Amino acid sequence: MDEVTSFLRVVHIVAAMTMAWPYYALAAVNQRIALGPPLGDRTDRYLENILKNRTIACFVFQGTLLIGGFLLIWARVSDSPLTVGDYLGDWAILAKIIILLIMAGMLSWVHFLVQPEIDRLFGDYGVLADDAKKRITTLRMRRKKMASLCMFLAFSAAILGVESVVGFPAWLTAVLLAVAALWVWRSYTSKTRYGWV
Ligand code: HEM
Repeated sequence: MDEVTSFLRVVHIVAAMTMAWPYYALAAVNQRIALGPPLGDRTDRYLENILKNRTIACFVFQGTLLIGGFLLIWARVSDSPLTVGDYLGDWAILAKIIILLIMAGMLSWVHFLVQPEIDRLFGDYGVLADDAKKRITTLRMRRKKMASLCMFLAFSAAILGVESVVGFPAWLTAVLLAVAALWVWRSYTSKTRYGWV
């Protein structure tokens, strides 16, 4: 069973790494903002294609984390005297399940509502009416905020994941969450040329 746990652990960590995508998406979006007008040319088609083609993959990685997370609990139960209830009673694991469901909800909102409207407004890409430009900018800003929140939730889940394994004090969890929030803010507002800042 040790091998099964190790396998699931590696899958869980690799899937967790894919949750860093919003950080890179923000980098691409910030570059587009820096480029300025015109809105609706091939640059926008390129950006939109990259962003929208990641959502299904993101659902798959989220599913991997959720199902893999439960399998990990099941595998660990057979290796330790703890029960499934003990694991699900761990506030950090519980918080991670809730976080993942929120992230899936946000992704669904972007995939099913925001993105189709952005696509409809861009049409076949080309000259856009002022109304369409305004609406696209509003929707893109909403999507950008959503990506930032998603980035914060993903890093919070990673912090809680490590917390559930090694168990560190609440103050350290709070400090790490605050640092994650600062980093998200920097990624939202700047190109983070030096990674952390
Ligand atoms: C965005 C979502 C998630 C992220 C980023 C994430 C990340 C992590 C990380 C980094 C660890 C530490 C791994 C280690 O040190 O071995 C971990 C552990 C763990 N995670 Fe997650 N996780 C997420 C969602 C979930 C969900 C939804 C569940 C439960 C259904 C779950 C269950 C677990 C369990 C049981 C462990 C402990 C593994 C062990 O003791 O070896 N995770 N997670």
